Amino acid sequence: TSGTLLFAGALNVDFSIRVPHLPEPGETVLGPNYQVMPGGKAANQAVACARAGGQAALVGAVGTDPFAEVALCCLRASGVNLSGVRTLQGSSGAAFIGISDTGENTILVAAGTNAALRPEDLPDLTAVDMLVLPLETPLPTIQAFAEAAWQRGVQVVLNAAPAQTLPPLLLQYVSLLIVNEGELRALMPPVPTEDLWQQLRAVQQQGPKAIVVTLGERGCAALLADGTQLRIPAPVVTAVDTTGAGDTFTGTLVAALSRGLHFADALIWASAAAALACTRPGAQPSIPSADEVEAFLSARVTG
Ligand code: RIB
Ligand code: NA
Repeated sequence: TSGTLLFAGALNVDFSIRVPHLPEPGETVLGPNYQVMPGGKAANQAVACARAGGQAALVGAVGTDPFAEVALCCLRASGVNLSGVRTLQGSSGAAFIGISDTGENTILVAAGTNAALRPEDLPDLTAVDMLVLPLETPLPTIQAFAEAAWQRGVQVVLNAAPAQTLPPLLLQYVSLLIVNEGELRALMPPVPTEDLWQQLRAVQQQGPKAIVVTLGERGCAALLADGTQLRIPAPVVTAVDTTGAGDTFTGTLVAALSRGLHFADALIWASAAAALACTRPGAQPSIPSADEVEAFLSARVTG
């Protein structure tokens, strides 16, 4: 299939500051400079999908402030269909990101107009292959979008980020759940096991057909609908800024799956794209093109 991949959720403006270490509560930390860059989970994922060669469209909202232009610039340049993005009275979503010398981050997010996304905003799903939903917009809207897509036989991909408790029915509509370790923990029923596969099976019993868990430097793991277990190592890179790496992974993975790649190959692509994104500052500005990912992977095979 090669239909549209529809992303619904937040567009943000990211204000990022490099600091020697991340502050404790009550602490002030000085850094040399800040950068203003496009971000937001759904927007980042749509850009990653488009750069990986997928047909990406985005549903969301920006405000009437000057920052809206920053939030939209990279999406436009990457060819993401923005007919589902409305301009609403108010401030665009904003994220205030501290990045430490080790590349770790702490993020504070002001939802702004992202909080205004409502169930009625779901566009016509004809020609949509997959609906991809991160969790930076109101949960009732996410739940309504997921249910509508599921009823029409459109695959629902849930990126349960940032970590939170989900409404009980939401996971029932999900074809593919993508989480990191912290997000997985937030969804796990109280199972007394350290075994990753048992943990994934416990979450799978709540509804999602397939689950991918990203494990940072340890790569990623997937439990597919038929019980197949996949384990993919992460390419070794020097991380400069991991902001948006998870979004790059999600957007690239769905683009690769919709192109018909085998799941394991799609995971390899997504891991490579995410690793490359970690080597550069910012979220959207750091997302690699398909050519870059291909060159990176073939250098590793031959090198
Ligand atoms: O996932 C990364 C994103 O989360 C950033 O771009 C920032 O906007 C925050 O919402
Ligand atoms: Na980055």
